[in-house]
Amino acid sequence: MTDYLENELNVWVTYIVLSLFTVVTFANGACAGASGDNGTCMTARECASRAGSANGYCANGFGLCCIFMTSCGSSTSENGTYFVNSGYPSSYDGTGSCELTVVKSHPDVCQIRLDFDRFTISGPEQMNHVCNQDQFIVSGGNPIPAICGVNQGSHMYIDAGIGTTNPVKLTFVTSGNSYARMWKVKVTQIPCSTIYKADEGCLQYYTGVSGQMRSFNYDSVSGLQLSNQDYGICVRMERNFCGIQYTSCPDTVNNRSRSFTLSGNSNTPVNSMTGSGAGPNNCAYDWLLVPCASNVGRIQPNQALCTDRICGGTFSADLSMQSSPVMSEFFNYTRCHHRL
Ligand SMILES: *[C@@H]1O[C@H](CO)[C@@H](O)[C@H](O)[C@H]1NC(C)=O
Ligand SMILES: *[C@@H]1O[C@H](CO)[C@@H](O)[C@H](O)[C@H]1NC(C)=O
Ligand SMILES: *[C@@H]1O[C@H](CO)[C@@H](O)[C@H](O)[C@H]1NC(C)=O
Repeated sequence: MTDYLENELNVWVTYIVLSLFTVVTFANGACAGASGDNGTCMTARECASRAGSANGYCANGFGLCCIFMTSCGSSTSENGTYFVNSGYPSSYDGTGSCELTVVKSHPDVCQIRLDFDRFTISGPEQMNHVCNQDQFIVSGGNPIPAICGVNQGSHMYIDAGIGTTNPVKLTFVTSGNSYARMWKVKVTQIPCSTIYKADEGCLQYYTGVSGQMRSFNYDSVSGLQLSNQDYGICVRMERNFCGIQYTSCPDTVNNRSRSFTLSGNSNTPVNSMTGSGAGPNNCAYDWLLVPCASNVGRIQPNQALCTDRICGGTFSADLSMQSSPVMSEFFNYTRCHHRL
């Protein structure tokens, strides 16, 4: 009789422990911290042991939103880590090299997305627009052009490769003149198996039915086109859409729009130039490549009448002084229209 009672009691105690345990378990999902930064939802103990800083509640108050923020000379495997300048949120005016090593949080991570929440380092020199004082360099993944200047709001996708032996390194090199530098780069690790990873060869990847793209260091007043860039900007084809139309953005600052100038920067108007053929109006050195581009209103199903390279001081797929919306026919246009 006694044995039986003890058994009953044991069973009951076990049940209580289990149910308590169940109540405080929650997924380590993304959360919004009280400061506006994003973090990962976890227990206070876990956040402290992973060197994060708790910033507000999540999981209906059962978890804490744990923010990971780190600076020079560190290594992180935490998804969503912010890489900031030394002294952040104050600016940094020193010279040297500030590096973050990004270790995969899971073997199934294929890409690293960088979001430049803050990005102000000194810009290129005025003559050839080379980043010769400050640079942001990504190494360890696929080749990425070094950039400089002001790039707040921009992003990059880095191919993190297979396996975990070759971590991606992010380095800010600062040299030269005194400058109030500031950066805060959000580092998100993207699993291979997700539908939101970027296509291969895309340094930048846009989704949605409309949006705005800018080149690195774009600024309508003082921005200079950076030298030695060669990268892909991809736009995901959304459901029921057949093509992409590009229009140069309004320029509210300058007399004549400078929202598109590629080797055409000048105070006097410069026409558009296209293609890679011979002649003065081709794009031999710098260009924006838009697959089979043609001006809207002049849609040609014939491949021979579209162009690929666009450059100059006016945005148009025809030689012109007037900018025009440009349509990209990136696959069989006839078939696409039949489908709609
Ligand atoms: C990292 O966080 C993002 C969202 O914040 C999420 O989409 C992604 O799956 C996470 N990566 C891993 C490896 O869990
Ligand atoms: C804009 O440019 C035109 C022609 O280049 C010039 O005549 C005009 O004065 C300029 N306007 C302003 C406000 O600078
Ligand atoms: C495009 O699609 C149409 C209709 O399916 C087809 O007749 C045509 O041959 C295709 N053109 C090319 C270049 O593949």
